[in-house]
Order: sequence, then C-alpha cells, then structure tokens
Amino acid sequence: ATLTVSTTGGNASSPLLYGLMFEDINNSGDGGIHGQLLQNNGFQGTSPTLASYAAVGNTTLTLDTTVPLTSAITKTLKVTVPSGTTGSVGFSNSGYSGVPVNADTYQSYFWIKGSYTGTITISLVGSSSGIVYGSSDITVTSTAAKFTYVTTTFASSQSPDGDNVWQLTFDGSKVAGSSLWFGLVQLFPVTYHERFNGIRADVGNFLEAIGPSFLRFPGGNNLEGASPGDRWKWNETIGPVENRPGRQGDWGYANTDALGLMEYLQWCEDMSLTPILAIWSGLTLGGGIISGAALTPYVDDALNELEFLLGPTTSTWGALRASYGHPTPYSISHLEIGNEDNLSGGCGTYASRFTAFYDAIHAAYPSITLIASTTSSSCLPSPLPSGVWTDIHHYEEPAQFISLFDEFDNYPRTPGYGIFVGEYANTATDSGATTYWSNVQGAVSEAVYMIGLERNSDLVKMASYAPLLEHFNMAEWSPDLVGLDSRPGSLTGSVSYCVQKLFSKARGSTILPATADVDFNPLFWVASMTDTGTYYVKIANYQIGSQNVTVRIPGAEGASEKAGLQTLTGAPTQSNYPLDITVLPVEGFVNGSVASGWTFEVPGYGITVLTVTS
Ligand code: AHR
Repeated sequence: ATLTVSTTGGNASSPLLYGLMFEDINNSGDGGIHGQLLQNNGFQGTSPTLASYAAVGNTTLTLDTTVPLTSAITKTLKVTVPSGTTGSVGFSNSGYSGVPVNADTYQSYFWIKGSYTGTITISLVGSSSGIVYGSSDITVTSTAAKFTYVTTTFASSQSPDGDNVWQLTFDGSKVAGSSLWFGLVQLFPVTYHERFNGIRADVGNFLEAIGPSFLRFPGGNNLEGASPGDRWKWNETIGPVENRPGRQGDWGYANTDALGLMEYLQWCEDMSLTPILAIWSGLTLGGGIISGAALTPYVDDALNELEFLLGPTTSTWGALRASYGHPTPYSISHLEIGNEDNLSGGCGTYASRFTAFYDAIHAAYPSITLIASTTSSSCLPSPLPSGVWTDIHHYEEPAQFISLFDEFDNYPRTPGYGIFVGEYANTATDSGATTYWSNVQGAVSEAVYMIGLERNSDLVKMASYAPLLEHFNMAEWSPDLVGLDSRPGSLTGSVSYCVQKLFSKARGSTILPATADVDFNPLFWVASMTDTGTYYVKIANYQIGSQNVTVRIPGAEGASEKAGLQTLTGAPTQSNYPLDITVLPVEGFVNGSVASGWTFEVPGYGITVLTVTS
C-alpha cells in the first residue's frame, strides 16, 4: 500500500489527547502506586482484622478498639508479652502479599503507647530465610500517658524475592507481664520526586515513560460508594494520615486514603499532568441516588472542595490547604461530574443532578471545563450547556474496536464541545472469553481504535486506558495496563502499555490529511506533524499477514532520509507476564527520501510508528 501525507490542511489535535485514568482498584493505590508498603496499618474498612500481622517471639496480638490513636484511626495493635519473657519479641507485617525489599533507603514511622524505655529494632527480613536486609535500632521512650511518634531511616540491600516482612522488635523482658500499643505503622522506600507520603518512584517513573498528559481520578466506581455515606470524601483524604479514617472502597477492600486529594495533585504536578478531578454526583453503586433538594449539601461540598483547591489563603478552605503545605492554589482546568451516570439506575436523574452541579460550579469557576460522565443524550440535559464535554467508556472485544474505528468520524462538531474516552480496553476475545492480560491482537485492536480517536482529535480531547494498575496477587479486574507484586523486577507493562507509550510519545499538534491506494481495514493509519516539523505516521495492521507500505510526504521539504521506525508485534495471543516480558517495541530506522517515500514492512498484528524529521 502507498500512503500519501499532505503537509497542509488537517485539524489541530488536542494537546491533552493521551493520559491516565486512576482509581484504587486491584490494590493499585494501597499496595500499588502509593509508597507505603505495610498493609492494614490503620485497621480501616468495615471489617478490620489482624490480616498481615504476625507475632514475633512470645507475644499475643490483639486488634484493640479501646485505645484509639486519633478520632480517625480508632483501632490499634495491642502487643501483650507474657510474664517471664526474655529476649527480643514484637510483631511483623507482611505488606501487600509480601514487602518489596530493594537496595534502597527506607523510612519507617509508627506510634507507640505503653511504658517502655529502650531499643526498638525495625528490620526488613526474609520470611522464610530469616535474612535481614536492612535494620535500624531506635532508642525509644514511651509512656502509658499518650502515643509517641517514632521515625527512622535506614538502608537495605536487595532481597531476591518478595517473600519479606517488616518487623518491629523490642526487649521482651522490659514489657513482660504487660502490653504495648502500636498505631499506623508505615514503611516507605524513596518516593517519586522524594515526596513525603508520596508515590513509588519505580511506578511513577514507569507511568511517566508513557508520556501522559492528564490524570483522571479518583474514579471510576471507587468515587461512588456502595451508599452515599461510603462515597469518596475529599475532605477525609487530606492532612496528616493519622487524621484520615479511610473508607471501605468499592472494590472489596479498605482504602487507607493515604493516597488522597493532595497526593493525587502532587503526582500531577511532579509528572506535569493536567488533573481531571471527578466529584461525586449523587449516584452510588446500589445504595441509592441523592437528587433534587437533597443534593444541595453535596453541591456545597463540591464548592468547598474547589475552594480548598483554588481559593486564596484568606478563604476558609484555602487557608486549610496552605496549612497543609500548599499555599499556592492548584490548577484545576477540568472537572468531571460523577462516573457512568448512565448506569446503576442513574440515567433518569442525571440531567437534573448534573445541572445542579453545573450551575453552581460554572457560576463560581466559569473557566473550568465541566465533563458529564456519559454521552447518552437520554441521560443528559437538553440542550447540553455550551462548553461541556462528555465521557464515554468502551470495554470491548477486538472486532468491536475495529468497528468503532470510525465512531467519531461523523460526530457533530459543536464549538466548545469535546469527547473524553475516559476508559477503554480490550477485555475479551471475539468469542467472549475474558482476556486475562492484554495480548497482541487485543492491543492492536486498541491501537486501531486509538488511530480513529487521533484522526478525530479535534473533537476527542482525551482518552485513557483503564484500569491502569493491578497488584498481581490482589486483582479483582483484569486486564490492566500495568501490574506488579512484591518481587524485584515484577513491574510489568502489558502489550497495551507498549501501545500507549508508542502512541503517546509520537504526537503531533496537527492531524494531517493522509490518503491511500487501499481502504481502511486491515491497514489503519493516522499522520500528524509537530510545530517543529516532525512527522509521525502511525500504522496498525490488523491481520495475520504483513503488509509492505510506502509512506510518501511530498511536501516534507528538507526531511532527513533516515527515518525512525518503531515496530510492535507478536503472535496474536502473546502477552507480557511478570518476569516474562516478551512483547516490546523494536526501535529501528528506514532510509528513504521525499521523492521516493519511505518503504517498510508492517508485520501482521503489528504497529509501526514512522518518525520523519525535517
Ligand atoms: O475500570 C473499571 C471500572 O469500569 C470503573 O471503575 C468503572 O468506571 C467502569 O465500569
């Protein structure tokens, strides 16, 4: 096939086009991207247990509800030491299915109450081997009067596996016949941009490598709550972590909310992402819908959240933000009202619920682009207020993504209107079998869909694959873009991750007209140009056989003969697995010229990105 790219005409492409969608699902937050590595540290959620704790030596562990750390962290660990005990005793925490232990510097924090003066040792220990990879002896003076905060920093060597625990031990003879209480134990490696209570550096760097433009958070279903009282409450996710009660998340486990509103925004600041903040719209996942006059307190709550984020330090909520270390207002340019309000019985009331939030927020913050959580016109106000965007989600089989290639080709263009594809992923084969972890055929079908989005990126402002991240041993939804567990090197990019990265890193500001001597399918393509004269041509080949393709850019005067050529392919069912990554893009080049074009093979079930510089 021959593709001919025009260097004139075309449409401006959305500068935000590719980004990230994040919610705490699959322990993607606690146990995933958040830097804190110990599980169940605040005994949060509806049915707290002693899960992940174990006695070390001759102690008895109890989940104590009578000795709260704070009014938010109401449960603590009581460690009882029998009379006559000698030697080192204490307790351990096995983290999120093991504590990842690397050659790194660790910080550990905990609260202690009860009479004890002496050494407390924090260590990172192989569960089976007993090998100590790092440890710290701290001199502690604790009394029964109140909780004392203890911190320590220590270096660790690399554990060969993820079978590790964090351990706290003390001199049992000094406590024999009595008890000590511990609250909110924490362990952090060096974090992304070395932030206090930050996200993991390895995960942050891995996501940054995609080259994303935005972060949609905090959900997804996890925004909604099982009932109104269980919704994600922004004001309970801010300030010192000991003042955050956490909540029962919507994916079957407790959320600590240590990854809270300000941590999300710090992630955005450090990764140069535009925040796409979602607010609760009155819809829950089965526990009822708040609408009409009863919604007013929640509209007020959203305005308080925006004052917290954007208000001057002289305002009530802006002052609180400043007191938490961020006097400068954040930058919030986009805000989504709800999540999937076309589902869970929400459609009938969404038009009025959306309007209640829209009227209040638009009046106070007219420059914020407000996004409705569905494109279903039957659920939306009519007419949709000018400037409002709508969010659509697609979890599809490969053949459906191929047929959705032209989804937006003939969509009405209204000034100010935009589409957000807030979630999409190939989740099953064409025969309906669930795809555990994205494979080559599915990822190429996503690429075909993304080519369709990019061709329409005057209208399609943003698109994000979902879900973003899973802990391999704790996932309730798969496939996910990225996965990890406690083993070194387990951080794994799926084939879809490779596609996201290839596409996001090769973005022009103008989508150029590109014609061919063949019709779309099985070849699909999109061409773009940057402001500095780099041309990108993305091609997906959705069939078994390879295709010989010549790309001509007759107007690309002064173009280098040597063009970059990135190729991603594999067997249709081939996947990447933890510690077994077999599908990666191959970086190469192809020689050509403006006169003859650039000729290369696009492999079967393959993607190529041609980069021509001028
Ligand atoms: O991405 C997983 C879930 O899919 C999201 O929480 C929800 O918005 C969608 O239904």
